[in-house]
Amino acid sequence: MAILICGGAGYIGSHNVVNFINKGENVVVVDNLQSGHKEAVHPDAKFYEGDIRDAQILDKIFTENKIDAVIHFAADIVVSESVINPLKYFNNNVYGMQILLGAMVKHGIDKIIFSSTAAVYGEPERVPIFEDDRTAPNNPYGETKFMMEKIMKWVNLAHGIRYISLRYFNASGCIEDGSIGERHNPETHLIPLILQVPNGKRDHITIYGDDYPTPDGTCIRDYIHVMDLADAHYLALKYLRGGGESNIFNLGNGKGFSVKEMIVAAEKVTGQKIKTVIGKRRGGDSARLIASGEKARKILGWSPKFTDIEEIIRTAWNYHSKH
Ligand code: UFG
Repeated sequence: MAILICGGAGYIGSHNVVNFINKGENVVVVDNLQSGHKEAVHPDAKFYEGDIRDAQILDKIFTENKIDAVIHFAADIVVSESVINPLKYFNNNVYGMQILLGAMVKHGIDKIIFSSTAAVYGEPERVPIFEDDRTAPNNPYGETKFMMEKIMKWVNLAHGIRYISLRYFNASGCIEDGSIGERHNPETHLIPLILQVPNGKRDHITIYGDDYPTPDGTCIRDYIHVMDLADAHYLALKYLRGGGESNIFNLGNGKGFSVKEMIVAAEKVTGQKIKTVIGKRRGGDSARLIASGEKARKILGWSPKFTDIEEIIRTAWNYHSKH
């Protein structure tokens, strides 16, 4: 028996591949390498280069391997891009999910763990955010992930595929040995961009707006370490294997940091001054996203190990200063 990891060459996917392999799972990866990196896939995983919108490659994978569950990371993820090019997101994310679930129905695979997002909440009515709080995505990216959750719900009812949807807040940090990390091309995420300044790759970091209704005017996010996310996926798999019902969990530390606070923390970690420029707001950004991770703690027994923001940034710096 093996698990299929869709998008296992990407940032969060590749960290999950390592974690599942370390836990003794047989891992099969499918990734179209559109944004993932082949060399980030652990050598013990069986790799297929392919797109989840291609039913034929999924047929081949499900025929050649005995797959027990699917862990689904394959998606476009850049909030600002989704505002400019929504159809790309509906195609890759929503249509991709439809094809993937269709293949699972056909091959009798009955468990899926899905990488959802805090972006399904849009601008929350309160923080910390609980799973049954209002969902009102304020960008196409969040909308696609919300639609994907809904598709899983109805497919579960019709075909018995149980699902766990994990709504990540801001994935951050890297595996401690620094072998793999967060690398997008072009880079759009805050921590790697901040670290490009002390790395000598950019002169300054632009802060996208300092007129938000937050104490220092910059957006607040809940940064959760990628290996803590990986642990949650492992626990979710155990839960589904143990007969657990479909469910939705937030994954965050329950603590928010503003963009300015992140820059100060990165200065401490790197020992260097980081130049900033105040820019315009970026489309689709919420002012404040902070999770309640209580439900995942209670039901999955999840307990994040990286609770200190400087420690999280240190793991990212360990990777970025080497690569
Ligand atoms: N930011 C800047 N300057 C930059 C880059 C980012 O000020 O150069 C700000 C953003 O405006 C935002 C914060 O830093 O306020 C974090 O931005 P990221 O792009 O790192 O992350 P997002 O919060 O936009 O999105 C991430 C993931 C999504 C996920 C979301 C949930 O990319 O997949 O977190 O909070 F849905």
